[in-house]
Amino acid sequence: MPSLTERLTEITSDAFAECGYDRRYGAVNVSDRPDLGQFQCNGALAAAKAHKANPRQIAQQVADLLTANDALGEVSIAGPGFINLSLASAFLTNWVQAAATDDRLGVDRISAPQKVVIDYGGPNVAKPMHVGHLRAAIIGESVKRIARFLGHDVVGDVHLGDWGLQMGMLISEMAHRQPDLPYFNPEFTGPYPEKSPVTIGDLEEMYPTASARAQEDPSVMDAARAATFALQQGRPGYRALWQHFHDVSIVEMKADYATLNVEFDLWLGESDTQDRIARLIDRLRHGGFAYKSEGALVMDVAEPGDKKEIPPLMLLKSDGAVLYGTTDLATIDQRVRDLNAELVVYVVDRRQGDHFRQVFRAAHRSGIAPESVRLEHAGFGTMNGTDGRPFKTRAGGVMKLKDLMQLVTDKATERMAEAEVAKDYDDDERAAIARMVGMATLKYADLMNHRSRDYVFDLDRFSSFEGRTGPYLLYTAVRAKSILRKAAARGLGSGSLLPPASDMERSVMLKIVDLSDVVYRAWDGRAPNHLCEFGYSLATTFNRFYHEHHILSERDTARRASWLALSACCVRVLELTLDLLGIEVPERM
Ligand code: ARG
Repeated sequence: MPSLTERLTEITSDAFAECGYDRRYGAVNVSDRPDLGQFQCNGALAAAKAHKANPRQIAQQVADLLTANDALGEVSIAGPGFINLSLASAFLTNWVQAAATDDRLGVDRISAPQKVVIDYGGPNVAKPMHVGHLRAAIIGESVKRIARFLGHDVVGDVHLGDWGLQMGMLISEMAHRQPDLPYFNPEFTGPYPEKSPVTIGDLEEMYPTASARAQEDPSVMDAARAATFALQQGRPGYRALWQHFHDVSIVEMKADYATLNVEFDLWLGESDTQDRIARLIDRLRHGGFAYKSEGALVMDVAEPGDKKEIPPLMLLKSDGAVLYGTTDLATIDQRVRDLNAELVVYVVDRRQGDHFRQVFRAAHRSGIAPESVRLEHAGFGTMNGTDGRPFKTRAGGVMKLKDLMQLVTDKATERMAEAEVAKDYDDDERAAIARMVGMATLKYADLMNHRSRDYVFDLDRFSSFEGRTGPYLLYTAVRAKSILRKAAARGLGSGSLLPPASDMERSVMLKIVDLSDVVYRAWDGRAPNHLCEFGYSLATTFNRFYHEHHILSERDTARRASWLALSACCVRVLELTLDLLGIEVPERM
């Protein structure tokens, strides 16, 4: 089925056409003044301008036709010629009934599905994940789920940072600490030990030490650069050691992502482009795109209309090592050729905007990505603490993702105890619920603002079971499910929907019919915040409805059955909304 606003646009466009105006004036949107009508059309103003006529008169002509339409209830005109529309109860009821009996809740699959790659996560091997990686994971996961639900063929790729200077730093730090390991002996012919010489704990200690030493001492930095280059050239001992760093890190990352309920289809990284880089560079050279500049190999990406200077993209350093942009370009090549990507969405910190502008231009200009392939940076802002500065530990350091997840889970446990939630369950179940409540806290707080904005993570506020929070939405969904279970246990079935008998009931229905538009809006803007807003508004509406109507004790059986059906539909819509946000809902709490 089309979305409701699409259907209303059709009806209104017909009316404009019948009055002798262009159909395009018939666009209908959800009203920003719901007190005047649930939907509105502003086309009469533009039509009047084009026809040098009186807008109210046109609006009146159109409104007269609309009033006669069965789908519509009250039609009124406001101000200079806005048309306000309300739905006829029978039409609304049928619409909700159709959604309620549809396994997609009335949300159509997208008409032209594409092969979509979502690049998100982006953790770096041997460096602990921190709050910056949190946003990429949370937003990317949601955008991926939305795209998939709409019927795109979607692949989520974690795109590990595993090929840069940090790898060389670690290798030379290891060589400094344990020079006798076979990895550093050029004569050694293998096989290299199967067991990793380092644990994740070692790596997390080594990287900052190595990086600090390199900053202080240029010879250490040179050694790290040389090691990076040798690694990229395929020196066997370095590759073997790199593999250990990689594997040890991935175990850790997978555990963190599992806690977050974030899943990737592909665990590729910068290093996976290694075998196509030489060819890519050749191609750019031969095509006349790449040229030498001060020893380095670069490519121009500036365009005549640029407001600020866009410097050339660096492809190879003077020592021959590849850079972040080189691997990103090669990854586009891989995604276009091997994955047949038609759209690639990069969910990465907004501050990397210039980098992606360079890379995307280089890809399109050189033909690595045909013009038809859309490359898009869906940038996000910073998560700040309540002091308005980037979120830090109490000691002022960067907070590890793991510690943050522990923090919110502990807070959830505390809140649950206060509210006596899950009090009688065994410890395992309570812990599982606390994790879900904790992650809901984190995710909802992150997703509720448009991704491009910075936001303040106020743990006290966002962990509350009341207000615009993840825990509130979870609690509402779980409670609504328990009402349905109770009804089923008493043998009370749901039935077909009756036209709404109260304003509250009507409001619930009107929320449900919004779903389709909201999901599409969220996808179009790569903006899960629309779903957050919708979920909250659905939850409060449902809670009010439930509060005003005594569903289980209602004597009128047809009415009760209708309310139960409406509640069940509401639960499904809320669960779908939460699922698209990547928020897990416990069975009970
Ligand atoms: N590893 C990078 C970082 O930590 C993010 C990678 C984003 N994705 C990409 N294709 N560049 O900043």
